[in-house]
Amino acid sequence: MTAQFTPDQFRALFPGLADTVHLASCSQGALSGELLFAIQEYLGSLRDQAVAWDRWMQEVETARGLFAQLIGARSDEIAVLSNASEAAYQVASSLRWDERPTIVTTDMEFPSVANVWLAQRPLGAKVCHVADRDGVVEAEDYVRSIDETTHLVSIPLVSYRNGARMPVREAVTRAREVGARVFVDAYQAAGVLPIDVREIDCDYLVTGALKYLLGLPGIAFLYVRDGLAAELEPRLTGWFGQRDPFGFDPRRLDFADHARRFETGTPAIASAYGAVAGLRTLARIDRHAGAAHVGDLVDETHARLVDAGERVWSPADPARRGPQVALVDDDPVALTRYLARRRIVVSPRGHVVRISFHAYNNRQDIDVLLAALADYRAGRAAT
Ligand SMILES: Cc1ncc(COP(=O)(O)O)c(C=O)c1O
Repeated sequence: MTAQFTPDQFRALFPGLADTVHLASCSQGALSGELLFAIQEYLGSLRDQAVAWDRWMQEVETARGLFAQLIGARSDEIAVLSNASEAAYQVASSLRWDERPTIVTTDMEFPSVANVWLAQRPLGAKVCHVADRDGVVEAEDYVRSIDETTHLVSIPLVSYRNGARMPVREAVTRAREVGARVFVDAYQAAGVLPIDVREIDCDYLVTGALKYLLGLPGIAFLYVRDGLAAELEPRLTGWFGQRDPFGFDPRRLDFADHARRFETGTPAIASAYGAVAGLRTLARIDRHAGAAHVGDLVDETHARLVDAGERVWSPADPARRGPQVALVDDDPVALTRYLARRRIVVSPRGHVVRISFHAYNNRQDIDVLLAALADYRAGRAAT
């Protein structure tokens, strides 16, 4: 597989970008030709073979392997699940909270993950939220919250709220000092920022396929560090979590040895086709070159918005910015609708409009966005 595409060549793999400015990869990635083909291929397998379990299972394994490669893990360290919440639950359900009850998370965490931590309170867990300081979480605040009672430290690589990078290195170092485990939510980074789980040194890492991984909803990947899985027994299971899913033994619980023990029932096969297509498309661009291109677009957008007098809720320090710029607006939904009428896709959340970049975006996208925003402001001023 070649990794030599320039950003322009990469852009050409997404036919819809000919008439749409896609700045919402934080929500759903743009549709590639490869994804379209993969969906048709899945439908074709239903039409031609009707029942194609071998072929489908092969697709799930390909998705597992490609994702493992993307984050520097081994295939047997990856569980294929349905969504990030399910992954968080599987981790929580395999831990006990009596001796070390604390889960440290943050207000910048995506709710579905944080909600799973909160749901462990009836079982004895105590949840501590590290607050942000106006959209940025300081390393010292995370470090101070982690102590000998901490069992699990949960931290996103990048926050979904404004694209801020989180102090993962410092949190992991502190977690290691006190013997706590680390759960990383990479949903807003995987596919657009390079990730190496050995370098991060986390115990768990989760992401789904529909955003920067350029696939579909319905599938998520949970990395569980080698050697950890064998001690853990999740509370949710099913035939795919067993050593031999096709052994069909209802009298025996026989968890798979590695990360696959966190799996449950029938995987989302259509989504596995989508994930493979997304991961293969991503492999066409060098991940460091892609991330540098995105970093330039983010910095340029941030600067031009500030110059235009807009309020931006992403970090002022470029080193803390991820692939997204969060534009503050009184009515983010109305602004999003206005932009959508001009075929500019962004994503409203809370008090901001999230403008997110992938390697397929370019400087013309920023020009078009800023021109539309100026018209919107002028129109509003006139009414
Ligand atoms: C950081 C982050 N985590 C998780 C999710 C999704 O969680 P789930 O897969 O449980 O829907 C999202 C967005 O949808 C997200 O931005």
